[in-house]
Amino acid sequence: MKQHAGSNALPLIPIASAKGVWLHDFDGKRYLDGISSWWVNLFGHCNPRINAALRQQLEELEHVILAGFTHQPVVELSERLSQLTGGTLGHCFYASDGASATEIALKMSFHAWRNRGRTEKQEFLCLEGSYHGETVGALAVTDVALFKDAYAPLIRAAATVPTPDARNAKDGETAIDVARRAARGLERHLEQHHQRIAALIVEPLIQCAGGMAMYDPEYLRLARALCDRFEVHLICDEIAVGCGRTGTFFAHEQAATDDQSCKPDFLCLSKGISGGYLPLSIVLTTDAVYDAFYDDATSRGFLHSHSYTGNALACRAALATLAIFEEDDVLAANHSRASKLAASLAPLAEHRQVRHLRQRGMVIAFDVETSDADFSRRFYRAALDREALIRPIGTTVYLMPPYIINDEEITHLGNATAGALAEALR
Ligand SMILES: Cc1ncc(COP(=O)(O)O)c(C=O)c1O
Repeated sequence: MKQHAGSNALPLIPIASAKGVWLHDFDGKRYLDGISSWWVNLFGHCNPRINAALRQQLEELEHVILAGFTHQPVVELSERLSQLTGGTLGHCFYASDGASATEIALKMSFHAWRNRGRTEKQEFLCLEGSYHGETVGALAVTDVALFKDAYAPLIRAAATVPTPDARNAKDGETAIDVARRAARGLERHLEQHHQRIAALIVEPLIQCAGGMAMYDPEYLRLARALCDRFEVHLICDEIAVGCGRTGTFFAHEQAATDDQSCKPDFLCLSKGISGGYLPLSIVLTTDAVYDAFYDDATSRGFLHSHSYTGNALACRAALATLAIFEEDDVLAANHSRASKLAASLAPLAEHRQVRHLRQRGMVIAFDVETSDADFSRRFYRAALDREALIRPIGTTVYLMPPYIINDEEITHLGNATAGALAEALR
């Protein structure tokens, strides 16, 4: 397939090896993986502990059909994940990629309502600027024109409701005000259409592919309450923001208050859950949803088969990843890492073309005011020249490095960002 022919073409960089945050090419050049290889890598490339766990797993079981059979890593992983949700999401469904997790959550929501006799609930809601994957079903709840428009005739698009993106604050408004305003938009929509709506799907706290749009947890609290009031499932897509990215293990945890938890009906995980090693996705759900399917009739069962469902190696990589979280107290260490990341980009807040420098946990982003349609490619190239892999989304520059990045590497990334910005704007 030929893409970006001609002068827009970017060099393809064959990678020979990788270690920690560094990617090494065949010409002896290195690049700091500032975006965790599309947000998947948590503990560095070729992590010795994950490697060792995989080596051992390889000697025992690489894969087995997960229909009628099961295995220890998948059982253990399901139990560990369920514990991490405080036991509220006690059922796990496995697939191999994020878009499939979205598809599964949508299908399961629709089918659970149908099994309960609520056959009119056939529609979904998503936020403006949302991204939940690029299969035909996932595109229905994705609101990014670049990925969606070409396939519009194939898609049964969900309705969109206002984004709580804090950048939309009007004069005098705080991020919480924007969240409340967006929630009022959701309420108005649900008042009119709730009978037909099966689920609302959201990316908690950061709409990543839509341009690292960050928002206040208040929105999740209000959305949860509205979903309860109008009998609509809440799907939290934590494919990108889960596994510690935003400062808590699950992003939606930040919406809990002393009096009230804020749990979704479906939680989608992928990307970082296997440490960035192997394709794996999981949809967790509640007893109530599970019970809606518990029946002898096959047609009432949830059918969604993938050949590599619950792959033993991928589950083992996930278990090794979760073990590192426990053994190293990663979330606490990430607090100080996040502060250093903030300090490394802080001088850019003064740059006359930089807007909305923002951060949540191990994600930091800013927007660049430029009319140059080629900005992101020019920045990407300039960053490569400075030994860094940073891929802006349009005019939004962001960093999302692995959690093992050290002080020196953070400085390297900060300098590469500032240098690439200056060159791309020259
Ligand atoms: C929030 C979110 N959902 C779903 C997906 C799709 O995941 P995958 O690329 O594994 O299909 C992504 C990928 O970036 C994502 O960020």
